Amino acid sequence: MKGSLLYEGKAKKVYHVNDHPDQLILSYKNDATAFNGKKKDQFEGKGRLNNLITSKVFQYLKQNGISSHFIEELNDTEQLVAKTDIVPLEVVVRNVAAGSITRRLGIKEKEIFTPPLLELFYKDDDLDDPLINDAHAYHLTGISEEDLDSIKQMALQVNEQLIELFKQVELQLVDFKLEFGRLQDGTIVLADEISPDTCRLWDITTGEKMDKDVFRENIGDLISVYETILQRLEEHTCAK
Ligand code: C5P
Repeated sequence: MKGSLLYEGKAKKVYHVNDHPDQLILSYKNDATAFNGKKKDQFEGKGRLNNLITSKVFQYLKQNGISSHFIEELNDTEQLVAKTDIVPLEVVVRNVAAGSITRRLGIKEKEIFTPPLLELFYKDDDLDDPLINDAHAYHLTGISEEDLDSIKQMALQVNEQLIELFKQVELQLVDFKLEFGRLQDGTIVLADEISPDTCRLWDITTGEKMDKDVFRENIGDLISVYETILQRLEEHTCAK
């Protein structure tokens, strides 16, 4: 079933699927990178955790009417997805101030954004994924105003659904990054992953950071934190 390697990114390998040119297999790696690849490490078991967490999150979003490239979990580290052309934008939604926005704009960590704040970054490693505005996005990616509006609307809907999901497992959704891709017929769907690598999640009771900031800031054991997230999501699914 698994065909040749199409692409290797920082966190995943992407394979063709034999006899299914409209599908891909994503294989999650154990590598962790931060600060656009300037900090690197490997964590045994991380690929499995991000694959299983992402699968659960995309299944939950599907049940709530949000379509994505996700088709099914194949095994511990791999998932089957619909092939898309990725729009080279990182769409970040922020409910609470943390990370780059605190440094960039001098906003204090933990300040609440009401309504949530949406930012666009241009996916380009050589440029360090710069923050861009809508006009830049039209020019750099060729995206139409209508498609960019629908991406923003989907991102805010995903935010509402994810705030609810994570609240049910005692986590505050601080911020996250989404990517979108175009199916062969041109439809734009949610793509990539949604995991503690791409979200900031704080324990509702203790305020403890339970995401990749543990690695970025050297403040704990990444695998045990990601394992806790998966366990909580599994208990949530079982309880339903
Ligand atoms: O670094 P920054 O504060 O802008 O990140 C905002 C959110 O987007 C965080 O949840 C972070 O994990 C995620 N992100 C990501 N991939 C990037 C940049 C940010 O998943 N390349």
